[in-house]
Amino acid sequence: MDPRLLFFVLTIAAVHCKDWWQSATFYQVYPRSFKDSDNDGTGDLQGIIQKLDYLVETGVQAVWLSPIYQSPMVDGGYDISDYRAIAPEYGTLEDFKQLVQSAHDKGLKVILDFVPNHTSDQHEWFQKSVSREAGYEDYYLWVDGKVGDDGQIVPPNNWLSLWRNSGWEWNEVRQQYYLHQFSSKQPDLNYRSASVHNEMKDTMKFWLDLGVDGFRVDAVPHIYEDAQLRDEPLSNNSGVDPNNYDYLDHVYTKDQFETFQLIYDWRDFIDNYTATAGGDTRIFMTESATSIENVILYYGTATGSRLGAHFSFNFYLLGADESYKPADICSSVVLWAIDLPSIYTANWLTGNHDNHRVATRVGPRNVDGYNMLISIMDGVTITYMGEEIGQENGQVTCAQGHDPSAIGNCSTFDDLTRDFERTPFQWDDSVNAGFNEGAETWLPVSDKYNETNLADQQKNNKSHYHTYQKLMKLKQTIANQVANETTGFTIGGCDANVLFYEKQFDDLKYRLVFNLGPQQETTYLDAKDRYTVLVSSVNSTYETGQIIEDSQIVLAPGDSVIVTNQ
Ligand code: GLC
Ligand code: MG
Repeated sequence: MDPRLLFFVLTIAAVHCKDWWQSATFYQVYPRSFKDSDNDGTGDLQGIIQKLDYLVETGVQAVWLSPIYQSPMVDGGYDISDYRAIAPEYGTLEDFKQLVQSAHDKGLKVILDFVPNHTSDQHEWFQKSVSREAGYEDYYLWVDGKVGDDGQIVPPNNWLSLWRNSGWEWNEVRQQYYLHQFSSKQPDLNYRSASVHNEMKDTMKFWLDLGVDGFRVDAVPHIYEDAQLRDEPLSNNSGVDPNNYDYLDHVYTKDQFETFQLIYDWRDFIDNYTATAGGDTRIFMTESATSIENVILYYGTATGSRLGAHFSFNFYLLGADESYKPADICSSVVLWAIDLPSIYTANWLTGNHDNHRVATRVGPRNVDGYNMLISIMDGVTITYMGEEIGQENGQVTCAQGHDPSAIGNCSTFDDLTRDFERTPFQWDDSVNAGFNEGAETWLPVSDKYNETNLADQQKNNKSHYHTYQKLMKLKQTIANQVANETTGFTIGGCDANVLFYEKQFDDLKYRLVFNLGPQQETTYLDAKDRYTVLVSSVNSTYETGQIIEDSQIVLAPGDSVIVTNQ
């Protein structure tokens, strides 16, 4: 390990006057699985409206809704057939207006998912493009095939879909191939068409006019591809077959120069919107699973001469699993602290609808420690619904599966499916965990709902939920701290089992200690200070308000506490 990582101290001059989003927690709702108000098996907007008070009580500032638009639901709504209509199973535009109004009345911001890379093949633009209707011919990436060795027509180049096999699909009507980086039912839009640009800006304006506070922009690295359609070089990754996306090095289909320019243009667009319409800052958060250099470039240029996303997701803790040691956490914390220019705001998350639930990956005993970590660190926190109660993966069989990246091959279903992390939210111990009133649910409710559900944790003083609630309060307290001279953080324990992370404001300290090792550990605090416990993990013996005796904290495996010297 890089010796710089053993003990890292960052001190910066006090910077204040944060905008609303810079120290906010964004709560991700996967609408299909949150709350089904009409008992048809699928979550819906009225269900979300019913639970807005819950989000307020929990202490988050914004709710991000995964796509709610009209869609054949091949990819859970990430295949949009009308960008301006609500999926009928979720409700109506009236329901949506009610949701925004009600959220705003309660002080919550509403962020929509925005999917610019591709539409559904059921979108009327695609239908019109297939039939070469005037004005729509070039909305998608249409290319003639090549003549292969045996005289057959073959795809124009070697580009692959993220979900295996060629990224090109033959269309009989148009007698051409179209590109799809995801499923063949999600054709990629062609951003070399001026009309597509206009459509997308009009779409954003439509939702901004309805009061949304910003967008999470989906699959950003994939928006542009090389205009010359050059073959991609081999990655030389070992053990991957030629139909696997990882077989190629995606120099021509990811993170193209034009994609960064597009995000910068959209930032100008949304900033102008805020300036003209007034009110709080409307924001962009971008989904970009790519190198740290490119993630940062999606934020903007190093000097801020061009700005992009307000923040671009930090996916580095998605790798956290049971084997994770402080060293693994330190390296991503320090990487972000060193690499992210100080004009930008960091962000922290441990899960989403595309990855196995963090409680399953790291094990239930470590859940609180990770929630503490992502909420005490500077910047934005993002919580995927259920993480506040330590909800684990559900159980879904191949026959019950929906995820297009996995269905169709039962031998690899368990390894590939994202259905496990999408099972319904576990509200209580009633029928279907309170998700609905007993109608068959679109994915099965996890059989763990009796042991892990919100109602139970609300009643129980020591629970993941209560820990999380305290963390949300603490995050806001820390965000409002004013330092006279300096503020900064120290991270340590990186080469051992007990990670510590301390935030400092002049003499005031908030220190997280988290035992990631297999044994009980004792960790020592500065003897000149008197420390009090602010938050403790479910299994630890510490209670909020307890004074630490002898400057030492004893932690069983998985235990974590946050203490302060105030
Ligand atoms: C993003 C979404 C994912 C979806 C994909 C294609 O990665 O998070 O769920 O399948 O884009 O839209
Ligand atoms: Mg419903």
